[in-house]
Order: sequence, then C-alpha cells, then structure tokens
Amino acid sequence: MGYFTVSGLDMPVSGEVRISGAKNAALPELAAAVLCEGAALDNCPRLSDIETAAKILENAGFSFERAGGCVSVLPRENQNGCVPEELCGKMRSSILFLAPLLCRCGEAAVYMPGGCCLGARPVDLHIYVLETLGAKISADNCKITASAPNGLNGAEIDLPIPSVGATETAVMAAACASGESVIKNPAMEPEIEDLCRFLNSAGADTVFGREIKIRGKNGLLERAQHSVMPDRIEAGTYLAAAAITGGELYLKNAEQRHILPFIKILENMGCIIKSRSQSIYIDAPGCLYSPGLVETAPYPEFPTDLQPQLTALLAVKRGKCTVRENIFESRLGHIPQLRKMGADIEIHDERTFTVRGLDGPLKSESVRATDLRCGAALILAGLAAKNGNRVEGGEYILRGYEDICKKMSLIGIKIKYST
Ligand code: EPZ
Repeated sequence: MGYFTVSGLDMPVSGEVRISGAKNAALPELAAAVLCEGAALDNCPRLSDIETAAKILENAGFSFERAGGCVSVLPRENQNGCVPEELCGKMRSSILFLAPLLCRCGEAAVYMPGGCCLGARPVDLHIYVLETLGAKISADNCKITASAPNGLNGAEIDLPIPSVGATETAVMAAACASGESVIKNPAMEPEIEDLCRFLNSAGADTVFGREIKIRGKNGLLERAQHSVMPDRIEAGTYLAAAAITGGELYLKNAEQRHILPFIKILENMGCIIKSRSQSIYIDAPGCLYSPGLVETAPYPEFPTDLQPQLTALLAVKRGKCTVRENIFESRLGHIPQLRKMGADIEIHDERTFTVRGLDGPLKSESVRATDLRCGAALILAGLAAKNGNRVEGGEYILRGYEDICKKMSLIGIKIKYST
C-alpha cells in the first residue's frame, strides 16, 4: 500500500501546471469505444482507472494501444459481453460498459461496481434506462445481466435524479438504438457534453441540452476521433493549492466556465482569478475569509468532487463556513483525518458540517485517504502543516491525478510517493 509524503512548504506555490485530460470524461468515452469500429482518443490521462478500463476492453475483445497521450481502441475478431467481477470491483465506471457491450453483443453482464465508497451508490437508474429502451434485465445483489437480441428501441427516458452515470448509459444505448430518444432531467456535467462530442465524431446523432435528444443509428457507430476535455476537478485542486499556500499559479489547458461556482467562492474569499481561453491564473493573498455557506449540487452548481479540497482550505483560513453535501450520503471521510491534523470541524449530520478556520497552520500528522478526493484534500492539508504530512492510501490518489508528484514539484511542492 503506497503513501505520499508532503514536506512543509517554505514558500507559497508558484509557477505553471498543465491540466490533464479528464478522468470522468475519458472513462465513459473508453466504454463508448465499444460502440465504434475503432476509436482514437487524444489527451487520455495516465491513471490507474484508465488501466482498469483498458483491461475491461481487452477482456471484451478489443485492443488498447497507447502512444503518449493518445490511445487507440480497436475491435478484435470476437467480442464477449461479460466484465469479470475482479475488474468491476476496482471502479464505479465499470457499470458504464454494460450498455455498450449490450448494444455490440446483444447480451452483457457486469458485477456490482466497486470504487470510491461515498454512500450506497445503487445502479437502479442504469437498469431503469436500459429497461425503458427495451432490454431484459435480471439483477441480484451481485450481478446484472442484460439481453436485447433484437437491439434497443428509442424511448423517452425521464430520470428522477440527474445521475451522471445513468445519463451516460442512456446516451450510449440510445445512440445505437432504433428510433428517437429524449432524456429528460439529464445530468448536465461537461463530461457528458464531451461524451456526446465523442459519439458524434463516430457518426452518432446526439444533441446535448436540458433535454438530450438522440436519433438512434439502429446499429454500431463508425470510427471515433476525439480529444478528451480538460480535467476540471484536477484544475480546481491546483487552484485550492494556490489558495491554501497564498500562492500564484497559471493553469494551462483549463476551462474557467467548467468550475465557475468554485472560482466564485475563491474570489469571494479574496483570491484574484483571471482566465483566457483554456487557461486560468490565480493570485491568492495569505489571508482569506471563509464564505458562510457552501452546498454541493449537480452541475452547474458547486461540484461534490471539490468539496473535500475546499474543506481543507476552509480549515486553515479565517472565519467559519457550513458545508452541506447534497450528492452523496457519506462523503465526509476527510473530516476525521483533518481533525487529526488539528482542524476545528463540527459535524451536524451525515451530510452537514461547520468548519471554523484556524487562520494558521495544521499539525503535521500521518493520515489516511479513504477515497480519491479525500486523498487530494489531505495532500492540500499537508501544504498547510509546518512539517507537512504523510498520506496513507496513496493508491486512491493515483486513480485520479496524473503525474501529481512531477506537477507539484514544478510549482515548489516537495512531495514523493513511496510503496
Ligand atoms: C460521477 O459518479 C463521477 N464519477 C463522480 O466522481 C462524481 O462525484 C459524481 O458523478 C457526481 O458528480 C465518474 O464520472 C466516473 P451519479 P456517478 O450517478 O456517475 C445516486 C470522482 O471523485 N444514484 O451522478 O456514480 C447516487 O447514489 C468521482 O471523480 C442512484 O440513486 O454519480 C448518488 O447519490 C467520485 N441510482 C447520486 O445519484 C443510480 O442508478 C449521484 O450519482 C445512480 C446514481
């Protein structure tokens, strides 16, 4: 089991970081490659989750080749629609392979997905979507089997909640179904818009919007050629690194419009942020003031994937802030670890807590990451501790941050990963 060692900072961070392709766009696009007669995906990040997706593709009868930032996925002679339990257990996104494998093979099977433990995380909406498009589904607590020997039929899909994953399942399945589909109350995350662009590059007919409209191809798609969008959560994490250390950073390949609520929070706290196309500049003064209340919500509101990083920032700045986590029922794993470092955080219930900023450094401690973004928050906390910290459970962080040690050392952070 690996761990990160973050040394205390003598100087605020400064310099330039190039943001990688987005994990949460690349994963559904690799699943969607199953629908295509080949796919070339540029700006595809090197992450352990991408390696898991590559193994799922190879197991299903596809080749996965990487040349630098570009990966190429090609169907081999025979495909099979089953994803092994071991690979499903490694990441939540394994569920995204069910729909494309069903469309390609007429039947498919996956096991209940693993990945970050943020609450119950059921898959009932993925099943509802496929049944609405005409698939026969049998599922127990362990495995989901789907069959549609004559293909899927376009339909109206009305999602009770704007689930990111269920929207992606619907878009992929409807793109290959016969007839038209409309997805009502879809998730509007930029990663879904990017998936639609990927599918349209292979001849699909998807129109992204408040209702996603899809004219199905009644069969598989052509060759896809696409460049993965920038990772807005990685960008937000580096902005938080600048804010927590009172530093100055220039992010290349980053879109301000994808994380506007977080940018607004940082500006209200006292940061200066400027952006031009595909770049963001931040200059953070040493003294920042907490915003009174922050709530996570579906895009375009404040993203749950930046909540732990914001919590680490709030812990060392001035003033108090109440945070409510509305997406996941237990995404507070970072709080006991931050408290161990001396943070003053009061938990009200499984979704709500108040941070009273120390307006000073945290204590150096050995802490443990319990999921990907919790890990990112603990590395940020190390930047605000006199002698840094040691973050166990480092493999969580490698799932979502490309070249984190190299990128952080370029901006003055002493960090290393050890196994
Ligand atoms: C995606 O997860 C992201 N993962 C998550 O990022 C992100 O936190 C989440 O969207 C919300 O933005 C990827 O894109 C790979 P959801 P997903 O379906 O698709 C409930 C990270 O750190 N729900 O929008 O799993 C669910 O329990 C990860 O990069 C059902 O009830 O999220 C949750 O409460 C963590 N039934 C809510 O919807 C379903 O069938 C939102 O989940 C599906 C979801």
